[in-house]
Amino acid sequence: MLMKKDFLSIRDCSPEEIRRILSLAAEIKAEPGKFSKALEGKALAMLFEKPSLRTRVTFDVGIHQLGGFSVLLGPAEINLGKRESLPDVAKNLERMVQGIMVRTFGHDIVEKLAAHAKIPVINGLTDLSHPCQAIGDFQTILEVKGKLEGLKLAFVGDGNNVASSLVLAAALVGMRIAVASPPGYVLRAQVASWARERAVPGFELVVTSDPVEAVQGADVVYTDVWASMGQESEAAQRKAVFLPYQVNETLFARAKPDAIFMHCLPAHRGEEVTDAVIDSPRSVVYQEAENRLHSQKAIMVLLMK
Ligand code: CP
Ligand code: NVA
Repeated sequence: MLMKKDFLSIRDCSPEEIRRILSLAAEIKAEPGKFSKALEGKALAMLFEKPSLRTRVTFDVGIHQLGGFSVLLGPAEINLGKRESLPDVAKNLERMVQGIMVRTFGHDIVEKLAAHAKIPVINGLTDLSHPCQAIGDFQTILEVKGKLEGLKLAFVGDGNNVASSLVLAAALVGMRIAVASPPGYVLRAQVASWARERAVPGFELVVTSDPVEAVQGADVVYTDVWASMGQESEAAQRKAVFLPYQVNETLFARAKPDAIFMHCLPAHRGEEVTDAVIDSPRSVVYQEAENRLHSQKAIMVLLMK
């Protein structure tokens, strides 16, 4: 029997698998009707322990467009690991549905669910990573710039889950990436060392505290909230530390003249990004959000078919 596959981290993918997801995502976006029965009758359980707009809607609409359906389980229903153990949740769900998407806090939770479930588990964001986001983002960059390899992406802000998945994905496609964060909020060293070990030619990683250095010559300028979900109590203190990392017109002007602006959303306008940048013609944030739908449909097809 073939081993079942999960999508827990970009780390679990090969460069070929990333390219395969991206090309299928483009095909699905171009001809969605061709895939309307790809997952006919299959059910996806969606487990959310944190809020969501994009992930929730795109997985829900996505599985329906592939001929399947979703079952939504919020924090109150499932109470992961508290009402019953994670292995028990996995061993129940595998008899009822054909895939699990989970958004939660600890990355160990998605790993444990995957280890105990005979069906595919997809990571819809943990404190450590957001691999579906990175895939949708790279689909967007590919659409706008026509290539990934050799481009420079500048991530300005917290060295968080989104930054980590972007660095890992950049390593597997040969993109240059610079991450500018204030001291104390830098990219995890493990992410940097894994990316350097597994990188294909063309990858370069610069970790700096200087946002101007990061943005200089960038094709893509990317930022995310300063306080992620679960860090709300640190928001005020983080605001002061991160203010020099705001992506405003002055900073954005240091990138290439045709650079695009990206943000995983939700955005805190006036904090990590100004209205002038996020609403500028060079902002692709809504195209980026839409591509969560197409790229996650590709992931579901590859895992659940
Ligand atoms: N970017 C993203 O994952 O958005 P949601 O938190 O709304 O799902
Ligand atoms: N870093 C953010 C991303 C939200 C999509 C968070 O974890 O809250």
